[in-house]
Amino acid sequence: MSDQRRPTKAVIPAAGLGTRFLPATKAIPKELLPVVDIPAMEYIVAEAAGVGLTDVLVITARGKEAIADHFDRAPELEAALEKKGDADRLAALRRSAELADVHFVRQGAPRGLGHAILCADAFVGDEVFAVLLGDDLVDERDPLLQPMLDVQAEHGGCVVALMEVPRHSVSLYGCVAAEPTGTDGVVRVTDLVEKPAPEDAPSNLAIIGRYVLAPSIFDTLRQTEPGRGGEIQITDALRRQAMAGEPMHGVVFRGRRYDTGDKADYLKAVVRLACERPDLGPEFRQWLEDFVAGRA
Ligand code: UTP
Repeated sequence: MSDQRRPTKAVIPAAGLGTRFLPATKAIPKELLPVVDIPAMEYIVAEAAGVGLTDVLVITARGKEAIADHFDRAPELEAALEKKGDADRLAALRRSAELADVHFVRQGAPRGLGHAILCADAFVGDEVFAVLLGDDLVDERDPLLQPMLDVQAEHGGCVVALMEVPRHSVSLYGCVAAEPTGTDGVVRVTDLVEKPAPEDAPSNLAIIGRYVLAPSIFDTLRQTEPGRGGEIQITDALRRQAMAGEPMHGVVFRGRRYDTGDKADYLKAVVRLACERPDLGPEFRQWLEDFVAGRA
């Protein structure tokens, strides 16, 4: 594929209510909850930029203005750090504004993930694009988005990210029916269903928060009626496309990933990344060992 046609656009839906993390998310968007000292969404913008998706649209909502502030320059803070000669903190402060071109559009009401993606129609135009959920953190050492872009470039159509989950928890996710392609970790998706009961689930392959989508998804989303929870579901739109014979593939992710909108998963992300940080890890790890052994 020539450089000109390589996707450059990413959409990050971040307009949800974040009810699972209340009361923390009453005034602070869940996408800005810090994972150690970096807001969850900065990891996500960095992930997009890391695979060349440097034109980013965040779908936001009333009360979430702090997201735009985080990706803007902060001249007063910069001046204060410059005065102190604190180059490391200055670089960390500027990073969020330098990672990508970040744009914002509001979803007037939280009418579902499909509806949030539809808000990106004018921004995306007629190009293949990626969707990264604002509360779904994929460890940067475990590649997911690049293999998905590669599968899309090879087969066309749409690509979803999948993860094997215990059958009893498929009802928390969208789920797919799939068949092998002959390539390890890549499946052909034949059907999709949003949050099925375990006994109705076609497999234990759950959809996680990364998508590479063809622009035809917008027309399909416009025709998609509200589904589960009265919301316009991306899973339902993808199902329509699969049923219409559009290419639909899944990349099975076996790496580290955290749903930072879920309290337990959020804590795991913080602890793991803190343990692995060169500046914090040695001391924190030692404390953690003592704590687990009942010595702290
Ligand atoms: P979630 O279902 O995890 O988000 O949606 P939520 O509704 O904020 O969470 P809870 O269940 O109430 O805690 C997945 C992603 O889609 C976005 C969310 O912001 C999140 O990043 N989303 C969801 C929207 O942008 N708009 C919506 O209408 C729904």
